[in-house]
Amino acid sequence: MNKTLQVELAERSYPIIIGPGLYNNAALLAQHIKSKQVLIVTNTTIAPLYLEPLMASLEGYQVCQCVLPDGEQYKTLEVLNTIFDCLLEHRFSRNATLIALGGGVIGDMGGFAAACYQRGIAFIQIPTTLLAQVDSSVGGKTGVNHIKGKNMIGAFYQPQCVLADTSVLQTLDARQFSAGLAEVIKYGLIRDLEFFIWLEANIERLLARDTEALSYAIERSCLNKAQVVNEDEFETGARATLNLGHTFGHAIETGTGYGTYLHGEAVAIGTCQAADLSHRLGWLTQADVQRIQEIFVRAQLPITPPAALDANSIIALMSVDKKNIDGKIRVILLERIGKAALPLTVDSALIEKTLTSYGRS
Ligand code: NAD
Ligand code: GLY
Repeated sequence: MNKTLQVELAERSYPIIIGPGLYNNAALLAQHIKSKQVLIVTNTTIAPLYLEPLMASLEGYQVCQCVLPDGEQYKTLEVLNTIFDCLLEHRFSRNATLIALGGGVIGDMGGFAAACYQRGIAFIQIPTTLLAQVDSSVGGKTGVNHIKGKNMIGAFYQPQCVLADTSVLQTLDARQFSAGLAEVIKYGLIRDLEFFIWLEANIERLLARDTEALSYAIERSCLNKAQVVNEDEFETGARATLNLGHTFGHAIETGTGYGTYLHGEAVAIGTCQAADLSHRLGWLTQADVQRIQEIFVRAQLPITPPAALDANSIIALMSVDKKNIDGKIRVILLERIGKAALPLTVDSALIEKTLTSYGRS
C-alpha cells in the first residue's frame, strides 16, 4: 500500500510517494515528466540493478542515460560537468526532465545539474538508499563537495516528485543501511520524542528490514522532514536543526577524505559529540547522552571520532560550515531528547573540551 505525503511550497509543492514497486511505475512517472526528453542520472552500481527496468517503463520517450562513477569522492564539479556534457550532446531543451536514480550522492548531483542546466529543468528524485529516502531526496538541497568543505557548492532546487520505492532497499548492503538509520534517529532526537521511543523499541526490526517497520520509519521521517521544509525552505531558522551532528560529521568526512566514513556514520559520531557538548552546557543529562550512544550502537553505527583526526584539525574544518556567521562556528545542540535548539555559538573552550575528551581514551 502506497503512502503519499506532500511538501507544501506553493508553486513548488510536490508529493513524496512511499511504497514498493514505484521506481518503474510508468503511469506514475508519466504524471511528472514534462516532455519527451528524459535523462536518467545514476551510477555504476545502481545501473546494473535498476536502469533497464526504469528505461523499459519510459517507452515512447527520448531517454538518455548518464552513468557516473560510484562514491562520495566523485561528488565534484568535475564529475557534475559530465551530466552537462550528456544534456548538451543530446540537445536537451529546457522542458526536458532529469531523473536522479540513486542514493544521496546521485540525488544531490542530479538535482544540482537540473538546477543549473539552462537555468533550471524539471527533475524527479528516485532515492534508492534508506538515507536518500528519509532525508536527501526531500527538501531541495542539491550540490557537490569541495576539497575544502562538504556540500559547499550548491543550490536549493525542488524536484517534481519523490518516488521512494521501499523494495529497492533489499539490495542495499548492511553498512549503507545502518548509515541511513543515523538520519532516521536524528528526527527523533531533534523534534519527535515519540518516534525516538518507537525507534528504541524497534531498531532491531528495522535492521532486519521488516517491511512494516521500515515503511513506518520512512513515512514518519519524511513527515518530519516535510514539516521542517514547509516551515523554512531556505534554512533561515528551524531547518538548521536537521543538521544535528553534521558540523562535527562534515569535518570528519572532509578530514578523513570523502568516502572513508559514510555520511551517516560521520553523522552518528557527530551527533554523539553534539550530545556530549549539550551535556557540558547542562542541557542533557549523562543518562541522556548514554541513551543516545546506545541507540547508535544498536543501529550498528560508530560513535567515537577517528583517532587520526585531532581536535585542532576538526575545529579548523568546522570553521568551514554553512551555518557559521562571520566566521564563528555555530552548532546544533539538544535541549533534551526530542528538542533541538537553533544554531548556537558556543564557547570555543567547551567545543575543544568535547573534541579532546569525548571518545578519546
Ligand atoms: P550514496 O549515494 O553514496 O549511496 C550509498 C551506496 O549505496 C553507493 O555505493 C550506491 O551506489 C549504493 N546504492 C544505492 N542504492 C542502492 C541499492 N538500492 N542497492 C544497492 N546499492 C545501492 O550515499 P547515501 O548515503 O545515499 O547519501 C549520502 C549523500 O547524501 C552525501 O553526499 C550527503 O552529503 C548527502 N545528503 C544530502 C542531503 C540533502 O538534504 N540533500 C541530506 C543528507 C545527506
Ligand atoms: N539534510 C539537511 C536538510 O535537508 O536541511
